[in-house]
Amino acid sequence: MDEPHADPRDELFEIATSVRALVEWYDGTGAWGLPLAPARGQVEPAYPAAEPHEAPPPNPRAPAPPAERRPAPSDATFAQPAQFTPPPERAPAPQFTPQFTPPAPPAERPQRAAVARPEARTPEARIEQLRVLASEVASCTRCGLADRRTQTVFARGNPISELCFVGEGPGAEEDLQGEPFVGPAGQLLDKMIAAMGYRPGEVYICNIVKCRPPENRKPQPEEMDACKGYLAAQIELVRPKYIVALGATAIQGLLGTTEGITKLRGKWKMYRGIPVMPTFHPAYLLRQPSAKREVWTDLQEVMARLGKKPPARG
Ligand code: URA
Repeated sequence: MDEPHADPRDELFEIATSVRALVEWYDGTGAWGLPLAPARGQVEPAYPAAEPHEAPPPNPRAPAPPAERRPAPSDATFAQPAQFTPPPERAPAPQFTPQFTPPAPPAERPQRAAVARPEARTPEARIEQLRVLASEVASCTRCGLADRRTQTVFARGNPISELCFVGEGPGAEEDLQGEPFVGPAGQLLDKMIAAMGYRPGEVYICNIVKCRPPENRKPQPEEMDACKGYLAAQIELVRPKYIVALGATAIQGLLGTTEGITKLRGKWKMYRGIPVMPTFHPAYLLRQPSAKREVWTDLQEVMARLGKKPPARG
């Protein structure tokens, strides 16, 4: 989807830049070696899109790994409409999220209003700025959610992806693992993403609020407000071509609207110059599987704009 290069040296420069960004990203995650090439026929992720790889080997210096993800519940299969076969099972998504330092003890509120400035232009500068932003978020005490979180939950996936999914806020599992959408709703979201023709880790996934609201309640307006500068900076650095807003809170947090998701879904909106497709949250689909058909229609709108096709059958 990128413009063809008139001069092959430009393309070479761009490839070299991407490879450098990838290596720096690995470095930032605490990886201490580069991934091996995949075995033939092995399903494995791409990051960035042109660089298939496996998750890095365990780093003896890194903090203890997060708990195993729960297997998807059997009824969580993302059933596509008749013309589409669900993709085969695959390995869990790799963890590309920056390692967060444990949150600092809560300080006086409000904290300084600093948010990393997204002036970075090159992919590696954007990735570096995202890392800075993630560590800033990790010690945030701008709202009461900081008091009860285990850790902040910044993002997972490709930080320079063309497509970004925005959810509501971390749940219990996300709070423990430090990554968004790793619980049952996340398992379904991963199936939706695979159904769109993306490999694991190829898209960027984040939330309106970065800390778990207690008892999984909806984040309050002041909590969304406290986090909205972080989200704006995050999206400006990722620079996705399109955003998918998952559920009412996501679209309300992005646009400030109070309209319900049933009215908004399937209709393009704009967030800071980026087209946004609102659709139902995967947690809602777990309760209401018949709504998968509408979600698939919405995702197909996005796929059409991005030139994506569902993976071939077989
Ligand atoms: N629901 C969300 O909106 N975000 C998560 O990260 C997990 C569940």
